[in-house]
Amino acid sequence: MRNYFIAGNWKMHKTRAEAAELAQALVAQLKDGKHKYLVAPSFTALETVGKIVAGTNIMLGAQNMAAEEQGAHTGEVSVLQLKDLGVQAVILGHSERRHLYKEDDALINKKVRLALKHGLEVILCIGELLEEREAGKAEAVCETQTVKGLEGVTTEELKRVTIAYEPVWAIGTGKTATPEDADAIHAFVRKVIGKLYGEAAAQSICIQYGGSVKPENAAQLMAKPNIDGALVGGAALKAETFVPIAKFA
Ligand code: G3P
Repeated sequence: MRNYFIAGNWKMHKTRAEAAELAQALVAQLKDGKHKYLVAPSFTALETVGKIVAGTNIMLGAQNMAAEEQGAHTGEVSVLQLKDLGVQAVILGHSERRHLYKEDDALINKKVRLALKHGLEVILCIGELLEEREAGKAEAVCETQTVKGLEGVTTEELKRVTIAYEPVWAIGTGKTATPEDADAIHAFVRKVIGKLYGEAAAQSICIQYGGSVKPENAAQLMAKPNIDGALVGGAALKAETFVPIAKFA
C-alpha cells in the first residue's frame, strides 16, 4: 500500500478554542490512519494545537515563516520561534503568499533553505495561474518555481521537502484539476527533480496535489501514480470532511 502525505492548511481561520476542538477530533479519528498527516493552523493557534497533536501521528505545520532567523522584522515569525512551539514542517511559497503578498521565488528559496537548515520539513507550493495555463505555460511556470525554490538545497535536504502542486485556478474555487491533468504536471515536476537531483530523488520525492480536494474526489486523485498526497484547504476545516480525505484508502 502506498504511503500518502495528507496535510490540512487551515489558512486564516479558527480561534484557539476552535482549533483545539478540530485538532482533538482529528487526533481521535485519525489515530488508526495509515498515512502521514499534518495540520497547519494559524500562528496564533500553534501552541494550542501543538500540545494536542504532540506524540500523535499528526504533524504540526506552520503556514509561513520569516526569511531571517531573528531581528528587527516587525510582524514576522522566525524559524526559531516556530521550533520553540514544536513546529515540524512549514508550508512555503503558497500561491496566496506569492500573489497576494508578493513573495517572489528568491524570497521563497531563502525561506526554504533556512527552514531546512533548522531541521524542519518543507512543503514547497508551486502552481500556475489560469491565464498561464490557458497560454500553455503551466509546465514552464511549475519548472521555474521548482528550480528556483530548490536552489542551494542539497540531495540530503531534499529528503525533507514535499512539493505541493496547487493550480491557482483550482484553489478555493471548487474547480478541481482533473486527475489526469494533475498527474501530468506531477509527472513533469518529477522529471524536473530528476534533472536536478537524479532519478532516485525523483522517484522518492512526495508530490501533493492541492486545489479543491474533497471527500468526493480524493480517491480518484490519489489513484494516479504521480499524486502522493494532498494539501487541503477548505475541506480541512472540519473533521467530517478532512477525515474521509485522510482515510480515503
Ligand atoms: O494549501 C491548500 C489550499 O490552497 C487548497 O485550498 O480550499 O481549494 O482545498 P482548497
